[in-house]
Amino acid sequence: MKLLLLGPPGSGKGTQAKRLAEVLGIPQVSTGDILREARRAGTDVGKRAAAIMDSGGLVGDDIVNDLVRERLGRDDAKKGFILDGYPRTVGQAEWLDGYLAESGRKLDVTLVLDVPDDHIVDRIVGRRTDRATGQIYHLKYNPPPAGADLVLRDDDREEVVRARLEAYQRDTAPLIDLYTRRGIVRKVSGIGSMDEVMARLKEALT
Ligand code: AP5
Repeated sequence: MKLLLLGPPGSGKGTQAKRLAEVLGIPQVSTGDILREARRAGTDVGKRAAAIMDSGGLVGDDIVNDLVRERLGRDDAKKGFILDGYPRTVGQAEWLDGYLAESGRKLDVTLVLDVPDDHIVDRIVGRRTDRATGQIYHLKYNPPPAGADLVLRDDDREEVVRARLEAYQRDTAPLIDLYTRRGIVRKVSGIGSMDEVMARLKEALT
């Protein structure tokens, strides 16, 4: 199964992609996670991406497509994958089509998580991530265990969240129409508990 999880920042893509990956036995491929890892490692790509990410903008298509080519080329992605946060522009979507076509593959389903803007800021400013495991928590909705080593993302400040929402509406939301025309979009409400959203996503896949 080759899945794409699409939705605004903070809609729960990472949270649900991790759960779906376990259920389906295929890897989550998050370009946000890959870029953050590149920053931590101090690679050239990480250094070039840092300022763009911290301002809420989008990293260039060429950089991100190269990262995706490397990740989807690994053995564990041969039987399927869950794309989380990629593609994010029409250019990335076109590149992905071409890349998958080289090996006779195409996307099967695009799951769109629908969460209104007024929930987004609340979710994002309360998010904390476990430094060691990458597990995503929320101070109110999914509290971390005592003693967890938590990090706050550099781009989770409210003014940056607004810029990320604008980038989503301008560059990424048009992909919903693109994939709708192909008949592979399933829209799912991202409101409710994490278990409820997971149940809806599973239902949408059956
Ligand atoms: P990325 O890391 O992809 O960020 P994003 O798309 O903005 O999404 P988030 O990670 O903020 O949110 P999410 O939907 O995964 O929500 P989560 O599950 O964490 O990208 C970061 C940056 O990298 C971009 O701005 C850009 O600069 C760059 N980048 C990445 N990919 C790129 C690309 N393809 N092209 C160009 N640039 C790229 O949940 C959020 C919070 O809500 C958590 O605290 C969680 O616990 C909580 N939560 C989840 N579900 C629920 C629920 N049902 N109820 C209550 N709380 C919930």
